[in-house]
Amino acid sequence: MINREELHQMKPDAFFINTSRGALVDEEALVEPVYRTSTFVFTEERLEKWLQGTAGEEEIIYTYGRSRNPTQISLQKKIAALEHGEAALVTASGMAAITMAILGYCKSGDHLIYAQTVYGGTYNLMAHVLKDLGIDVTFVQDLTAENLNRAKRGNTRMVYFETVANPTLEIPEFDEIAAWAKKSGVHTVVDNTFTSPYLFRPLDWGIDTVIHSGTKYINGHGDLVAGVVVGSTAFCEGLRKKSTWTSGRFFPPIIVH
Ligand SMILES: Cc1ncc(COP(=O)(O)O)c(C=O)c1O
Repeated sequence: MINREELHQMKPDAFFINTSRGALVDEEALVEPVYRTSTFVFTEERLEKWLQGTAGEEEIIYTYGRSRNPTQISLQKKIAALEHGEAALVTASGMAAITMAILGYCKSGDHLIYAQTVYGGTYNLMAHVLKDLGIDVTFVQDLTAENLNRAKRGNTRMVYFETVANPTLEIPEFDEIAAWAKKSGVHTVVDNTFTSPYLFRPLDWGIDTVIHSGTKYINGHGDLVAGVVVGSTAFCEGLRKKSTWTSGRFFPPIIVH
C-alpha cells in the first residue's frame, strides 16, 4: 500500500495510476469503470444501511448523482492527491467551485477581501451576486499585509485571489498573505487554474482551500466544463452537503478518464 508521503514524491502521471480509486463496486476491474448513471439501485441491505445510517466509515451508499457518484469520488481523490489536499469536491463548473468555496466560509453579514484582478466571472460574482446575498466585499489592489490590515474588519472571513491573476498575470506573495491570514483568523481561497498542481501547489504554502476551473489546464482537452474545490476533509464534506442542496456535482461523461 502506497502512503501519502510516497505519493507526494511521485510525478503527476504516476499519481493517476496509484491514487486510490473511488468506486466501491467493481473494485476488481483493471480499468476503473465510468459510472454513467444518475441514480443507484437500492438492495435491501443497502437500503437498510442507508436508512439506519449504519454504513462503515469507508463505505459509501450511493443513491443519486447530484449527491455522489463513484467516478466523481475517484476524480476527487486524484485531484486532492495532486494538490496535496486532504479531500476535494468536483463541481459543475469553475464558477460553481468558487461559489461553493465562498458559501463554505461566508454567510450573510460576513465580509470578504479579494484581489483587484481576478477572472471577469469571479469579479461579477464578487461585485454583484455576493452583495445581493448580504456578503460585503472589498477589492484590494496589492495583497500586502499592510493593505490587508487596512481592509480587514471584525467580520472578515476570507481572502480570495488567483495564483496567476487573469488576465494581468500578476503573482501575489503567497507566504505573506498566508502568514497574515493565519495570524488574523481569516481563511484563504486561491484559484489555481492557471498553473495547475503540475507547477504550483498553494496548500503547501499555507493556503486553506484551492479551486480550479477544471475547464482549463487540469482537463487539457477543451472538451469539459467542470470545477473542483480542494481542502480539508471537514470543509469538503460540508460543501458536498451544501452543493447537493444547491448546484450539485458535474455528471461524469466518458472524458473524465
Ligand atoms: C482563472 C479562472 N477561474 C475561474 C474561471 C471560471 O471557470 P468556468 O468557466 O469553468 O466556470 C475561469 C474561466 O475562464 C478562469 O479563467
